[in-house]
Amino acid sequence: MSSSRREFLMSSGALGLAGLLGGVAPFGRAAHAAGAIKVGLLLPASGTYAPLGEAIRRGAELYVKSKGGALAGRAIEFTALDDESAPPKAAELTNKLIFGEKVDVLMGTVHSGVAAAMVKIAREAGVTTLVPNAGADAITGGLCAPNVFRTSFANGQVGEATAKAMLAGGVKEAITCTWRYAAGEEMVAGFKRVFEAGGGKVVKDIALPFPDVEFQSALAEIAAAKPQAVYSFFAGGGAAKFIKDFAGAGLKDKVQLWGPGFLTDGVEQAVGAAGDGVKTVLHYADGLTNPEDAAFRKAFQAAYGVAPDVYAVQGWDAMHVLDVGLTAVGGDVAKKDALHAAMAGASFASPRGPFAFSANRNPKQTFYLRELKGGKNVLLGVAAEGLADVGKGCKA
Ligand code: PHB
Repeated sequence: MSSSRREFLMSSGALGLAGLLGGVAPFGRAAHAAGAIKVGLLLPASGTYAPLGEAIRRGAELYVKSKGGALAGRAIEFTALDDESAPPKAAELTNKLIFGEKVDVLMGTVHSGVAAAMVKIAREAGVTTLVPNAGADAITGGLCAPNVFRTSFANGQVGEATAKAMLAGGVKEAITCTWRYAAGEEMVAGFKRVFEAGGGKVVKDIALPFPDVEFQSALAEIAAAKPQAVYSFFAGGGAAKFIKDFAGAGLKDKVQLWGPGFLTDGVEQAVGAAGDGVKTVLHYADGLTNPEDAAFRKAFQAAYGVAPDVYAVQGWDAMHVLDVGLTAVGGDVAKKDALHAAMAGASFASPRGPFAFSANRNPKQTFYLRELKGGKNVLLGVAAEGLADVGKGCKA
């Protein structure tokens, strides 16, 4: 909807109500019933993470559509900006959404570096903020704030869960291989902390600049070292290429390939048989048996013609958290303390399983062990149940 049309609808709603009240100024719930809530989306629409941004947006929009286009009686209007997964652009784009577009709710993003810059501004501005992917530990650690909610995971949290599964699977020695930025570094740090405490040995750390996909020298190092396993974080287009190059280098049947499930989510079709046997750990999987997941998958497939992935679930759940908050305040997004308190207490059935936040507003959740087989991240079991991140920074 154009802003002039929106303004027209808002003012005509207020006029209508003023008429009903015999000239008394509108107030409370009915006063804003005609206005849309503006949700600003800061997501990648270009680059290696573009498909992840699209899945998040689709999940969020589908949730709102499933509620008839409105939450707590208020239409939701999305305004999206492409952050290109480029941290230097983050501040300007965040300011544009908060102060230019004057969004009521900010939602973003995929890349940890972009999200950390976004959250620094959002926490000062006090705008209701939803993080539907980026795992930067600081977001629910040192940068934790009462108006910031993450519906995905913390980088260290998924690293820890993956370490547990690898130890349980008998892996004793690994090389880590990732992109050199907060997500890769923190997923490796969380992994190492638990893997080494459990007796595992990391024999080498390999890191490439983000978003490089020239994997040949890394793969040559791995081939020369012949470790039992590789623990790897890549995502989006980079993950698809890494898996294919790993197989192409002849490593597929010699070295176990493991990682947080971002390595295989959303790239199942792109990697084909090269991905068979890759084991990952994530808060989502193919083959969950809860009714919410069945309904979500059916609706997503019908709406977009493709199966959903973890990113779509995180976008869907972000709107569900907002829905819980808005319902508690009768759609009055200005009642921030009550809105944020209700959001923090949100507890519902997500496609991933039960959803609830720990005290720092990061999901406390179950992580599943999966194996990529025939284009599906087949559920093998539970890697960690009810796991919270280690963030302790949130006092509020
Ligand atoms: C991140 O930068 O935090 C990030 C990006 C992509 C993923 C997961 C985490 O798939």
